[in-house]
Amino acid sequence: MSARGSRLQVESLGLQIGGATILADVDLDIAAGSLVGVIGPNGAGKTTLFNAISGLVKPTAGRVLLDDRDITTASVPARARAGLGRTFQTSSVFPRLSVLENVRLAAQVSLGGSASLLRFPRGTDAATRLALEKLAVVGLDHKRDFAAGDIGHGDKRKLEIAVLLATEASIVLLDEPMAGVASGDVPGLVENIRDMQREKGCTVLMVEHHIDVLMGLVDKVAVMYFGSIIAYDTPHNVMNDALVQSAYLGTGSTGTAAA
Ligand SMILES: Nc1ncnc2c1ncn2[C@@H]1O[C@H](COP(=O)(O)OP(=O)(O)OP(=O)(O)O)[C@@H](O)[C@H]1O
Ligand SMILES: [Mg+2]
Repeated sequence: MSARGSRLQVESLGLQIGGATILADVDLDIAAGSLVGVIGPNGAGKTTLFNAISGLVKPTAGRVLLDDRDITTASVPARARAGLGRTFQTSSVFPRLSVLENVRLAAQVSLGGSASLLRFPRGTDAATRLALEKLAVVGLDHKRDFAAGDIGHGDKRKLEIAVLLATEASIVLLDEPMAGVASGDVPGLVENIRDMQREKGCTVLMVEHHIDVLMGLVDKVAVMYFGSIIAYDTPHNVMNDALVQSAYLGTGSTGTAAA
């Protein structure tokens, strides 16, 4: 199954909380099928932007459009049905379910069934086959019977990617998918993310502090600073942008700036 990537447009998005400006006039146009990175210092508003796009917080100004459809006030489930999937900065698997069950729930829903655990047939039904296929893609099939809460942090991030692969998401938001992942696991995760774009045709928007890894992966980068986007361009142009240099990357920055 392959999904067609969605175009995401964020227009003049603003969020004020108790007099504080968390998001300020954010504009972004993410082309269908592209892979875009979001960088910026801690507290810049990256996760909040994802929360506004996925419906967890309600913006106080502006609009969010998915394939030209205004989803600014749509519920979280309605956005998921429209093809929006996401992972969270902190791992969000069901810890007491097995690795396989976590993916099979997503597979059941995308195959048109319910998300009920009670409906799990024991055999090799379509949802199980789809789930096993996605676990193999991320290299977790050998841990399929482990409780998801018992696997390592890097494996949990892989599991989240497998869950997204098993859905029909046409756009995914990944919030720091490589945070806390052992360096040996990073290349595999990078390949999984690339596959979401290339094989599945998904649009991918990802926050990541590992700038060196991100720059080799994405088509474009958005730089957030104090709730605003101060640059949105190719990795090469962003790295050479004078405003980005002075505001964010600074002098003597390392490959994991502001992590
Ligand atoms: N519900 C809220 N109420 C008040 N302030 C909030 C709320 N949510 C976020 N903030 C503030 O908004 C700012 C942006 O936070 P956010 O988590 O989006 O940053 P971030 O760029 O994801 O940072 P990090 O790189 O550390 O994950 C922070 O100053 C945070 O304290
Ligand atoms: Mg964050």
